[in-house]
Amino acid sequence: MDLIRTQSLTKHYDGVVGLSDLTVTIPTGTIALVGPNGAGKSTFIRLLLGLLDPTAGGAQVLGEDIALRGVALRERVGYMPEHDCLIPAMTGIGFVAYMARLSGLPKSQAFGRAHDVLQFVGLREERYRRIAEYSVGMRQRVKLAQAIVHDPPLALLDEPTAGLDPTGRAEMLGLLKALSGTKERSLVLSTHLLPDVEGLCDFLVVLNGGRLLAAAPTREILSVDSGELVIRVKGDLSRFVAALEHRGVVTHPARHEVRIERPSGGERVLFEAAAEAECQIRYLGPATRSIEELFLQMVPASSGGVA
Ligand SMILES: Nc1ncnc2c1ncn2[C@@H]1O[C@H](COP(=O)(O)OP(=O)(O)OP(=O)(O)O)[C@@H](O)[C@H]1O
Ligand SMILES: [Mg+2]
Repeated sequence: MDLIRTQSLTKHYDGVVGLSDLTVTIPTGTIALVGPNGAGKSTFIRLLLGLLDPTAGGAQVLGEDIALRGVALRERVGYMPEHDCLIPAMTGIGFVAYMARLSGLPKSQAFGRAHDVLQFVGLREERYRRIAEYSVGMRQRVKLAQAIVHDPPLALLDEPTAGLDPTGRAEMLGLLKALSGTKERSLVLSTHLLPDVEGLCDFLVVLNGGRLLAAAPTREILSVDSGELVIRVKGDLSRFVAALEHRGVVTHPARHEVRIERPSGGERVLFEAAAEAECQIRYLGPATRSIEELFLQMVPASSGGVA
């Protein structure tokens, strides 16, 4: 079963286009919704949750039609909103247990699960403090905790890394990576920070100005049919590059790897160069473009690009 299917899904806000004629099929897995500010990411997520009514078109989430706004669907989907959804006067544990109840967990399980998820997000020590006293990073963690407290097969996370410092961001990405490890759980996360996506998400949906630019497996979107190769070695990279150039290979060295144009005489020459430079080839594969490069190609400069 597909995770999400949409048919010409459209949302206009009093003449402003939020999402335009979006038809897409998204498989289960860890999905990134990427696009610059105003791309329509939050609109899309809120439509999927039934929090907004579409102007036209429709969608199914986990096989269920969003127009039905079923309680069953709410119990199977977690949501981490972009903006604060927290109740400052409550303690972390009280709030997460309350959200667990709203998501359909019986009282007997709600507190136990709330303790478990707060431990998971690293708020064990702070769980009895009032949310009003939490830092931005702690608030993001509580928001994540309440989204997954009922162990939903799908969690929709709107900008989970927003507002975090580099350490907090790395920690949040670590949590998401841990959550994405199981086949039973799919994550859809929106971000305009493209490096967040690499290494975490296996499928990308790229939006801009409310329109779909691309939807495909990350590897497919990022691979380029340039005929170039990327090589990483153990040893002295600059010596390896020199040995390659000595053999007429065109090189584009970077900090930890070298991109080369595929040598006409085959790959043997690469291993000869490695042997001469006393290096070991650790990785050899087709060159991919970074998500940043992809964006610069896809999103016209006039739209402001990606922050
Ligand atoms: N409640 C609203 N009323 C009017 N226009 C809205 C509303 N919500 C969103 N929009 C407009 O719809 C478009 C898409 O907005 P949306 O918030 O979905 O984008 P986004 O990709 O989530 O952006 P960001 O990265 O800034 O969160 C924007 O032009 C925005 O101004
Ligand atoms: Mg948004």
